Amino acid sequence: MAKNDMLSLLEQEHKEVSSLLKEILAHPRKPDLEKIQQVKSSLELHTKIEEKLLYPKAEKEKQASELISDAYKEHQEVKDLLKELKDDAEPDELIKYCEQIQIGVEHHVKEEEGELFPLLRKLWDKETLQDLGEKMQEMKEKELARH
Ligand SMILES: [Fe+2]
Ligand SMILES: [Fe+2]
Repeated sequence: MAKNDMLSLLEQEHKEVSSLLKEILAHPRKPDLEKIQQVKSSLELHTKIEEKLLYPKAEKEKQASELISDAYKEHQEVKDLLKELKDDAEPDELIKYCEQIQIGVEHHVKEEEGELFPLLRKLWDKETLQDLGEKMQEMKEKELARH
């Protein structure tokens, strides 16, 4: 599978955010606010991209529809936790929420990479995935330019 198909790009982002969280949690006494901010913005953009470009299309596939409705719920849970990451929070609080975010992200990534993505790779051809990958990169560039 080519590296720039959408599902591979999303998997790459999963890895990046997981390692950021690991790095933050490795120093619980002094939470790295910059990395926390990075987790926040990358997860916001990642979920936005999936909800705009991937889930609506995947939802139309009968076999994927249940996975997608779970996925929306899991995104919402993570988004609610992200709101709790405030710069002026106590280190303990920040770490507590980062741990919960890590659990939520790990669980969700497991479902996407273990169930949803393999299913979509079976249902959609290479061109479709490649095309979605291009759209994803365009959307990402636009969104990043806005900030
Ligand atoms: Fe994802
Ligand atoms: Fe997701």
